[in-house]
Amino acid sequence: MQAARQLVVRGGSSLRSVGRIGGCVECRAGFPILASSSSLPRLPHTNTIVQGVCAGRRCGEMQVNTKAGVSRRPSPSLTVTSAHPHPHLPMIQVSWEEGESTEYPYVWLRDNCQCPSCFHSVALARIFRLSDLQLSVRPSQVQVGDGGGSVEVTWQDGHLSSFPSAWLHQRAFSEDHQRQQEIYSVPRVFWGSELSETFPKASFTSLLKDDQALLDFLTQFEAHGVGLVSDAPRNTGQLHVLAPRVGHLVPSHYGDTFHVMTKSDPSNLAYTSGTVDLHCDLPSRSAKPEIQLLHCIIQTTEEGGENILSDGIHAAARFKKDHPSKFHLLSTTPIEFCDRGNDEGYEFHIVARKPVIVLDYRGEVKTINMHTMSRSSYIGAKAEDVEAWYDALMSFNAYLHDPKNSFCYKMKEGDILVMDNIRLLHGRSAYKAAGTGKRHLEGGYWAWAEVASKRRLLQQNLGRV
Ligand code: OGA
Ligand code: ZN
Ligand code: ZN
Repeated sequence: MQAARQLVVRGGSSLRSVGRIGGCVECRAGFPILASSSSLPRLPHTNTIVQGVCAGRRCGEMQVNTKAGVSRRPSPSLTVTSAHPHPHLPMIQVSWEEGESTEYPYVWLRDNCQCPSCFHSVALARIFRLSDLQLSVRPSQVQVGDGGGSVEVTWQDGHLSSFPSAWLHQRAFSEDHQRQQEIYSVPRVFWGSELSETFPKASFTSLLKDDQALLDFLTQFEAHGVGLVSDAPRNTGQLHVLAPRVGHLVPSHYGDTFHVMTKSDPSNLAYTSGTVDLHCDLPSRSAKPEIQLLHCIIQTTEEGGENILSDGIHAAARFKKDHPSKFHLLSTTPIEFCDRGNDEGYEFHIVARKPVIVLDYRGEVKTINMHTMSRSSYIGAKAEDVEAWYDALMSFNAYLHDPKNSFCYKMKEGDILVMDNIRLLHGRSAYKAAGTGKRHLEGGYWAWAEVASKRRLLQQNLGRV
């Protein structure tokens, strides 16, 4: 936690240059560094990008700790021209210099007071308790402060809150503003077979050494749900080498990582040389793994062993448009996935019930659960509805395989295929197991929380937000 509040300086030119971009690691605002050449010491690097934390979480003033001490800088030109209680509603109306006006409910402002007794500026956590919040909370006075740099609220009980302009502006309640929070997530780019030539790629060494390369890769991966890391060493353990640059490997009942090869006692059909139909990994777990990594250590030189990837969420959007009632059946009928067996001495019997298409709180497709191999005989429907459910499933399966939503790629040795297991389905064609047909992948999982977190940190550290 403490580290997050310290000045972050990444390689680059001198801080003496005026107009370089920096940003507050808390409020995330990028802003030009307006320091004069004499106010800051020369730092040892070139092309410096500076980030710090607004003094006391006040984005109106940027506090940067340097060897020379503390320097304060003005924030960008987000100036409040007026702020006053809305005449009819329980909210404050704020007018901005550029003409826009935004509204902030009183109860929300009180809940988000940034003063040291309400918000811990080191732990970055709310101290103010919900049980102390009143729906009827009202200000006795609202004023523009700091020459338009803040809104100062005096509450009826005498408590004072000060909201920096930039802080308020970033938190506007308009739909447009809330959609534009690119730091939250990278917008998805849907695809089909056209992506086979152009899907995001980066070399293993560049991801280990170069923050910019890692940011580009993670951003593209988040947008497309698929990425390829090339030229990793051809031996096991490389997922453990890459992981610290991004996030922890998330274990499953197959271990921290697992080895996909033809085995005499397969605990999973992927451990045979047969076809592995389009699927997401481990829907039998109540929370399936979110991102899958497959490192190709040995690829078969024979035919087969090729992967198919499908943009499941794109396919579901097309399916919904063309077949709304089949879509409805697949998103409301719970089925069961069951994974039972023993892998390297660990015995398991994992079961979860869920629909094939899972919707989120907005009614949009959140994830697809397809796994023919571990789909059990249980279907949460009346006998007379079962045939219609199979019809819907088969028809959706055709959309998933449609080149409008899918492409094939045969991994080369040294490739690490990274796939969004929430959005994509993947499969593998059969291959010859003996002789030159030998094939070996090491697989593992990441969590989206950590991958998106790394992307956000890199955006902030490299001054991209
Ligand atoms: C898996 C899998 C694909 C392959 O192990 O989950 O889908 O290429 N493997 O062997
Ligand atoms: Zn307060
Ligand atoms: Zn798989």
